[in-house]
Amino acid sequence: MRVHVAIIGSGPAGLLLGQHLTAAGIDNVIVEKQSRDYVLGRIRAGVLEDGTVAQLRSLGLADRIGAEGLIHDGVEIASNGVRRRLDLKRYSGGKSVTVYGQTEVTRDLMDARAKSGAATIYEADHVTPHDFDRSRPRLTFKTDGGEREIEADFIVGADGYHGVARASAPAAALTTYEKIYPFGWLGLLADIKPVSDELIYVHHPRGFALCSMRSKTRSRYYLQVAADADAADWTAPAFFEELKRRLDPEAADRLETGDPLEMSVAPLRAFVAEPLRFGRMFLIGDAGHIVPPTGAKGLNLAASDAYYLADALREFYGEKSSAGLDAYSARALARVWRSVRFSMRLTALTHIPPGATPFERRLQETELDAVFRSDAEARALAENYVGLPYD
Ligand code: FAD
Ligand code: DHB
Repeated sequence: MRVHVAIIGSGPAGLLLGQHLTAAGIDNVIVEKQSRDYVLGRIRAGVLEDGTVAQLRSLGLADRIGAEGLIHDGVEIASNGVRRRLDLKRYSGGKSVTVYGQTEVTRDLMDARAKSGAATIYEADHVTPHDFDRSRPRLTFKTDGGEREIEADFIVGADGYHGVARASAPAAALTTYEKIYPFGWLGLLADIKPVSDELIYVHHPRGFALCSMRSKTRSRYYLQVAADADAADWTAPAFFEELKRRLDPEAADRLETGDPLEMSVAPLRAFVAEPLRFGRMFLIGDAGHIVPPTGAKGLNLAASDAYYLADALREFYGEKSSAGLDAYSARALARVWRSVRFSMRLTALTHIPPGATPFERRLQETELDAVFRSDAEARALAENYVGLPYD
């Protein structure tokens, strides 16, 4: 098999890039380690920036997100027992975010891909990129049908943090930056009415909490827990009891409880690989960078990478120019670092690190209070939260 672009990984980054390429007449194949159902079963992000939604719309995927996505013009921030609303729309010059689960984005993209006839190979083992330092890179892998090989002009690693693409880059060509946090997030998904119409970010001496949602009848809640916490040690009643303790009395009173559809612990880390290009292989999404989840930037960065790389590949095939491909890594990384900065800052403002002193907690409260006292502080938070522009 020979294609223009061979993509490793059928997460949002790979699927979005694939749709952009198919729309531009650039043939591509996606090779995925897991089954379609497994990929769709992973509960992850839920908040989309305008730029991500605009991309989905431009690919003809406006219908379901238009009908089911929830537009949020503000978020609530609770600290020192007081919950206040940050008007995102007002402080970002009219922008908002859309609550629409990553699983739904993935499903919409998979359905559109199936309709377009573009190929996806699921349950591929031992996926390995070769010869991306030469003019004819190849991807080899195993399926039920035996050993397979795909020749391509370019290989794209959209295979997440644990993927094979970045691991295949020559060590001497790769620089990585990493911070691992001493805490994680315990997430719970349940079919209960969200405690509030908007998201609540909670700064509390017992630890951070976040009340998010996937729809008007499905809640997604998170608690800051120790980095080595095990979801199996938690029950749903214990989760809700702890969440109530971190919420203000009014929200705690309103909190509905119910059986969890999913409970899991996610570690928190920041990670950036530089560059995002190795000859004829490019990295997009979590394969190249991870941000701590506070602020919901991970999926949105995967989307901006896909956008930049699609732009560069269209230029390569349409205008026979490599300028866009040469600029891709720096262009994507500039936005990545800005999002790392924001996600780490919001994490630092709202989480209680082990051993934090009362002094440090009072300082966090003062920082969060400043958001509601100064238009400049409110604007800085709002414009990052709704998503920085695509440069
Ligand atoms: P992924 O979604 O990881 O997709 C990569 C794909 O590549 C996967 O389907 C994987 O199976 C496949 N793959 C991996 N290795 C190989 C291989 N060797 N060969 C072939 N295929 C391979 N972000 C938020 O904004 N908010 C959240 O609440 C949030 N929660 C998260 C919870 C968890 C547990 C995780 C892991 C991430 C979370 N994120 C969250 C981050 C967000 O989900 C990611 O940024 C987003 O999924 C990135 O998309 P991606 O396509 O780059 O990578
Ligand atoms: C969600 C995750 C986030 O990290 C965040 O800041 C907001 C919402 C979520 O999963 O819904």
